[in-house]
Amino acid sequence: MRRPTTLPLWAISVFVGQIAAQTFTSCNPLHKTCPSDPALGTSWNQTFGASSSLDSAYWTVDAGPANTFSSDGAAFTISQHGDSPTIQTPYYIFWGRVEVIMKAAAGQGIISSIVLLSDDLDEIDWEIMGGNTSFVETNYYGKGNTNESNAIYYPCDGPQNSFHNYTTVWTSEQIEWHLDGNIVRTLPYGEAVFQGATSYPQTPAYLKIGSWAGGDPTEPPGTIAWAGGPTNFDDGPFIMTVQSITVTDGTQNATTYSYGDHSGSWQSINIAQ
Ligand SMILES: *[C@@H]1O[C@H](CO)[C@@H](O)[C@H](O)[C@H]1NC(C)=O
Ligand SMILES: *[C@@H]1O[C@H](CO)[C@@H](O)[C@H](O)[C@H]1NC(C)=O
Ligand SMILES: *[C@@H]1O[C@H](CO)[C@@H](O)[C@H](O)[C@H]1NC(C)=O
Ligand SMILES: *[C@@H]1O[C@H](CO)[C@@H](O)[C@H](O)[C@H]1NC(C)=O
Repeated sequence: MRRPTTLPLWAISVFVGQIAAQTFTSCNPLHKTCPSDPALGTSWNQTFGASSSLDSAYWTVDAGPANTFSSDGAAFTISQHGDSPTIQTPYYIFWGRVEVIMKAAAGQGIISSIVLLSDDLDEIDWEIMGGNTSFVETNYYGKGNTNESNAIYYPCDGPQNSFHNYTTVWTSEQIEWHLDGNIVRTLPYGEAVFQGATSYPQTPAYLKIGSWAGGDPTEPPGTIAWAGGPTNFDDGPFIMTVQSITVTDGTQNATTYSYGDHSGSWQSINIAQ
């Protein structure tokens, strides 16, 4: 399920300036010539503890409330309608590897997500439903297509009760989703097809980690059903906890990525070093 891009109501009143900035800079390279994207170009990791904070060079708070930290890790808390705590990297990776050790949020309709998302809406996802204690979902989208048949669920024992290792390995040849060290899904480039064209995620992507209430009664019925049913906020707070994040850019030493044309193909990406 593609996460809604609209910000929660509370954010609109608090961060009017930020929203204006996002609208101004948001640019789909399939339709426009866009500014280049900053590259990570290296590897980076953080293990969260009680004295941690988010390093602004690596994380921006996309939609609060701000994280709290404990010896367990970074907590992303949903307490009420509209909460959608999310962080995202200001930098992009072009192929690479993302490892997140996470305990998903419990709660019917609550989604814990780890998403790689590019400017032209290629997307690689892990999504864990708070009300489903035995399966986790993997998914992908190419250039913003909306084929929900790409979602596949895999068994996982109590993702809300203990920490699990969600690792994504992304190359020009295939995407691997590793759950607790086992490859559960492999998507070869040629198997990602939508309406006869490739829908393989292949453009520089930033990482977005957070939780949201797909079961919020204001969501469309299809979203609520997918999320596992309506969320009762009285059952909260719903807390997703991230212990550590490791990110490796598959293009080492890159400084920026830019789209050379409007094709959205990986061959069109210009790498500055
Ligand atoms: C995490 O980063 C530190 C500092 O750069 C590095 O020494 C360490 O090897 C990294 N650990 C992992 C698991 O990548
Ligand atoms: C969990 O997800 C699996 C796979 O989609 C589904 O078969 C099962 O019914 C779900 N369980 C609950 C409690 O939603
Ligand atoms: C997480 O899984 C990846 C992929 O299998 C593995 O390389 C990595 O060592 C695991 N991390 C931890 C902390 O076990
Ligand atoms: C949607 O995805 C499914 C499974 O990957 C595939 O069989 C189907 O052809 C796709 N739909 C379109 C319109 O390409």
